[in-house]
Amino acid sequence: MRALAPRYRRILDACEPFLISWRGNWSSINMAPFGVEIPAARRYCPTQLRSRGVIDGLHLLDGLSFGPQEMRMPRWVLFDCGEFPGIVFGFGRRAGDLPHQARVAYEALEDDEAFIPLSMWVAIRNIEGGAFFGHNLSSANLILEGEDALPGLGILTKAFGVAASGVRKQYGATQWDSTSLNVHLTYGDLQLLSAYTPAHTHEETFSYLLNVDLERIEATLAPDWRRPSPMGARTLLADDTAAIRQLHADLEAGQRWSLTGVERRAEGAQRLHLNRHG
Ligand SMILES: CC(C)(COP(=O)(O)OP(=O)(O)OC[C@H]1O[C@@H](n2cnc3c(N)ncnc32)[C@H](O)[C@@H]1OP(=O)(O)O)[C@@H](O)C(=O)NCCC(=O)NCCS
Repeated sequence: MRALAPRYRRILDACEPFLISWRGNWSSINMAPFGVEIPAARRYCPTQLRSRGVIDGLHLLDGLSFGPQEMRMPRWVLFDCGEFPGIVFGFGRRAGDLPHQARVAYEALEDDEAFIPLSMWVAIRNIEGGAFFGHNLSSANLILEGEDALPGLGILTKAFGVAASGVRKQYGATQWDSTSLNVHLTYGDLQLLSAYTPAHTHEETFSYLLNVDLERIEATLAPDWRRPSPMGARTLLADDTAAIRQLHADLEAGQRWSLTGVERRAEGAQRLHLNRHG
């Protein structure tokens, strides 16, 4: 692959990529996303017992990342909706290379050689050809501090997961106040499909489509890439319920809006920037 920004190079040097998917899917998966091979030992089939430890690790990671949002996955959800039909891609390390508090969080104090999944992107193939729905993105940066932190882990994980899956259209659903928006926006604008989504656990969730351009994604991982400053023809605050519902009404009336940027403010909810598209 092209030159990588130092933060991403550090992750590839420190961690190994891993994959979980039913082995019947493997021939449809790119096992060397951006030229980085997923080692044979890190390819797991969820029906095999050797995947048990890494799957236990994923559930501990999910509890850390989605527990506070009341969206923790039961084991059967990850099996039925991710590991078996879709793809789970992430980066991990030996337990012995992790700081004590991370080993405690992963319940991995005893075996230095245990492989600990530090991130995951889970995606499920849609019936629509070439399309996947992004089901989960988690990163252990939530518990890795100081020198042990791996800045960029969330961005690198989704970029590589998308490349491994071969997805051309990536759908997803995220909350307006989510801290993950800069990760998703790294790869391109998000075409909004809904702004207010009562079908979801959290009503103030938006759903989106990202048209995947792998060259563009690879370019964002390069040392010279800079995130564009957020600027949009329309803005809304993540906690402005009336503005969210108005945007949803406009989308249902046929207007086409994309989320193009997010602005974190010193105080108060983050500000979202939107532009019309197509
Ligand atoms: C969201 C999450 C995956 C980000 O993982 P991460 O490894 O910290 O992400 P990265 O280091 O790649 O950072 C990505 C960008 O997000 C920003 N970011 C990271 N944590 C953030 C936070 N708490 N608040 C706001 N922005 C944040 C970073 O500044 C970075 O932007 P930059 O490229 O301009 O520097 C992780 O915090 C997580 O697991 N959260 C809980 C689960 C969740 O909400 N998942 C997403 C659901 S769609």
